[in-house]
Formats: sequence, C-alpha cells, structure tokens
Amino acid sequence: MASNLFFNLFLFYCLFFSIIIFPSIAKTSFRPKALLLPLYKDPSTLQYLTKIKQRTPLVPIKLTVDLGAEFLWVDCEQGYVSSTFKSPLCSSAPCSLLYPKICGRCVSPTFLPGCNIDNICIIHPYNPLIWTFISGRLSQDMFSIQTTNGFNPGRHVSLPNFLFSCGDTSLLQGLASGVKGMAGLGRTKIGLPYQFAAAFSLKRKFAICLSSSTRSKGVIFFGDGPFAFLPNIDLSKSLTYTPLLINPISTGGFLYPGKKSADYFIGVKSIKINDKVVHLNTSLLSIDNKGRGGTKISTVDPYSVLETSIYNAFIDAFEKAMGDQVTRVAAVEPFGACFNSTGIGSTRVGAAVPTIDLVLQNNNVFWRIFGANSMVEVRKDVLCLGFVDGGVGAKASIVIGGHQLEDNFLQFELDYNRLGFSSSLLFRQTTCSNFNFTTN
Ligand SMILES: *[C@@H]1O[C@H](CO)[C@@H](O)[C@H](O)[C@H]1NC(C)=O
Ligand SMILES: *[C@@H]1O[C@H](CO)[C@@H](O)[C@H](O)[C@H]1NC(C)=O
Ligand SMILES: *[C@@H]1O[C@H](CO)[C@@H](O)[C@H](O)[C@H]1NC(C)=O
Repeated sequence: MASNLFFNLFLFYCLFFSIIIFPSIAKTSFRPKALLLPLYKDPSTLQYLTKIKQRTPLVPIKLTVDLGAEFLWVDCEQGYVSSTFKSPLCSSAPCSLLYPKICGRCVSPTFLPGCNIDNICIIHPYNPLIWTFISGRLSQDMFSIQTTNGFNPGRHVSLPNFLFSCGDTSLLQGLASGVKGMAGLGRTKIGLPYQFAAAFSLKRKFAICLSSSTRSKGVIFFGDGPFAFLPNIDLSKSLTYTPLLINPISTGGFLYPGKKSADYFIGVKSIKINDKVVHLNTSLLSIDNKGRGGTKISTVDPYSVLETSIYNAFIDAFEKAMGDQVTRVAAVEPFGACFNSTGIGSTRVGAAVPTIDLVLQNNNVFWRIFGANSMVEVRKDVLCLGFVDGGVGAKASIVIGGHQLEDNFLQFELDYNRLGFSSSLLFRQTTCSNFNFTTN
C-alpha cells in the first residue's frame, strides 16, 4: 500500500504542476487519433518484424508480424520480468472476449504470477512457420505505443491492461533471430486493431505498408489518416476498395467448432495477365463450406502462394505473355519460372514484364501487380516470377504474400468490412519507407 500512496502523491504532484505550468496538457487526458508501429524486413528470413514496448519497467521486444493471427504472444518462459503482469481469472471480463472460452490450470513452466491458480483462461499461441500451437494463458501487462498525427510520430501512450498470450521458448523456432514472439493483427477482439481501437477510441481501421528494403523501415498505422509519405502524399486517400470476406472456419492454429478465421480474405474472381484471363478452376476462388479455397493476405508468406492447378496455369500464361524475345532459364528454388533478365527492360515500377491483375468484385476493380512486385532478382542476370506452388488442395487457393504487398498501401476498415489498396506506390513517386519517422 505504501507504493500506492507514493504513486498517488506522485500523480498529485504531476497534476498540480502541470495545471500550473502546462494548462493545455492537464485539461483533458490525451486522445490520440492514430498509433504507429515500425516494420522492418529481416534479410535472412524475409519476415516482417516490429518492435513493441511492454512490461514494467518497459522493455523493447522484437516480434514477427502476422497479419492474420488472433493475438500477440511472447515467450514468457525466458527473461520475462515485470511487476505488472497478471493472468485474468476465468470469471473476468477479458476472458469473456474469447471464443472458445476455455478455463484451466496454467501449464507453461514459468515463474510468473497466476500459474498455480486453477481457473485461468487458456488460449493457444500459434506459430504458422512451424505449424505449431501450444496451450498458453491469457495475460495482461503494461504496453506502450507511439501516437502519430499522420505526419510524424508523436508521444507514447500506455495501455495498462494490454491482453496477450504467454507462449514458451520452443514456439520461437523458425522466427527471425532476436524475435520473442508474434504480433497478430487478425480479426478478433484481442487482436491489436480491435484492442487499440477499444482502448483509445480509435476508428476500427489499420493500415500496413511493407518496405521492400531491409535497410529502411515500413509502418503499421492504427486508426484514422491522414497518413502522409514524403513528398507529402496522403496515402489514406485515393485507394481502391474491395470487400473483406470472413471465412466462417478457422484457418490456422487451434481449431474449434464455430470459431471463425481471423485471416483477411478478399474476393478474387479471376486473374488476368496482360489483360488476358488465365483459365483456371474458378470454384477454387471461393471459400467452400469447409473453409477451404479463397484468397487471403499474409505477411508470413514471403511470396504469394497458389494452389497447384492455379499455379501451373498461371506460370504457363505468364511465359506465353513474356514472348519469344525473353529466354527462360533453369528455375531457382522456390520459384518455378525464371528468365534471363538481359532481354528485359526496366520501368519506374520495376522490370518491364506482363502485368498481373487480380480481378475483384467486377471487371473494373482489380489489383494490378507490376514488375517490382511480380519479379525477384535471384542473380545478376536472372529474374524469377515471385510466386510459389502451394500444393494440391492448398487451404487458401491464393495467398497474397509479402513480396507482392511491398510498397503497396493497404488499409483494413473493419467496421465497413472493406480493404483499401493503392497498387504500386512507385507510380506515385513514393515508397513504404517514406514515412517521416523524425519525432516532432
Ligand atoms: C474444381 O475445384 C473443385 C474444388 O476443389 C473440385 O471439386 C472440382 O472437381 C474442380 N473441377 C475441375 C474441372 O477440376
Ligand atoms: C543471358 O543472356 C546473355 C546474353 O545473351 C548471356 O550472355 C548470359 O549468359 C545469359 N545468362 C543466363 C543465366 O542464361
Ligand atoms: C521530417 O519531420 C521533421 C519534423 O517535423 C522535419 O523537421 C523534417 O524536415 C521532415 N523531413 C522531411 C524530409 O520533410
């Protein structure tokens, strides 16, 4: 209680002086319009990483970003020290945000409080890179995040009861070096977008912009724009919109009857290469009653993944569209179609190759992919089509992966169930690494 008293006195002291000296700050508690997290591309794993601050005292933690994951998890087994860590009880409000709600006893061997209590909430942190989930516990701790006015980063705000899951050290396998967990931006009440929106009364929107360079950072925004990129281009404007679809059956990790997928799906109706339709089995493009098929967006797949029959048709059509002037060379793993790049010109939006359109709700709405996002330079004179074969009967028929998302601005508007996308920012003479990270 002594520390409580001290804290109250401290608070009083701060308020007292701020009222006298800085009346504008004391007037209301600060309400941010938007928050941001930096995004780094790891050169060896091609994972997209972010850095958060958590615990008391605050510790910077590196996490792999998983757009479709249900929540944030960290390794609590090693090196977790905090005076504000809690495991909410099964009867608590945070636990009722979960589906399914499973009560049990803590099983992870950690020394954090709450592990000897019978009725805590069990959730299942998942690592899609090793297809493994474990039984973890719902946890709460202090979280701090930087605000933004859309032009520069601003002050930090804190969320004392941030919800996440405790995982263990074994679940870190396959993640980039130094990473301590994963940050889930998926569509659940405890995913980062909903949690931040609820805590700070933000619009239920978030945007991602992945940098194509491992030397400069991209950004995730939570809340409402403007989001200005140098030279002063507001990327929250002039987007093309397509509905976000909900897959009624979970697509990763712990499966449970009636549990929806946290992944973001869009409705690709056909694929065109240089304006010509690629012939494929279109029933694979919709989500069936077992939750298979359809098109999802992923930050943990470095390249887009196509179900085998789609992949084969796609590669054939692309090669035909390339024409005879360009010679095909031996394929380089994991790609299936590679070309001698000496015969290929270059443009502002990358290699001068056939355009790929993901046609959406109608023929006038498409996501156009240019050379910078379709081709990967594997050697000085070899360019490969940066798509990979997902196997026969792959779960999602199309997964739009990292390479195709880079230098594209994507805004997920959860209340309107729609995705705003920009196509290549290179056309607008900017990139995802052009947000001004200098603090004002
Ligand atoms: C198209 O895909 C569906 C779903 O996998 C499958 O049931 C059907 O047999 C396929 N049709 C053809 C012509 O291959
Ligand atoms: C690509 O083409 C050039 C010019 O014809 C040739 O010198 C080079 O060896 C070729 N590279 C490959 C990988 O085939
Ligand atoms: C970035 O923001 C800082 C702080 O507002 C400003 O001083 C600087 O000129 C900006 N950089 C560019 C390139 O506009």
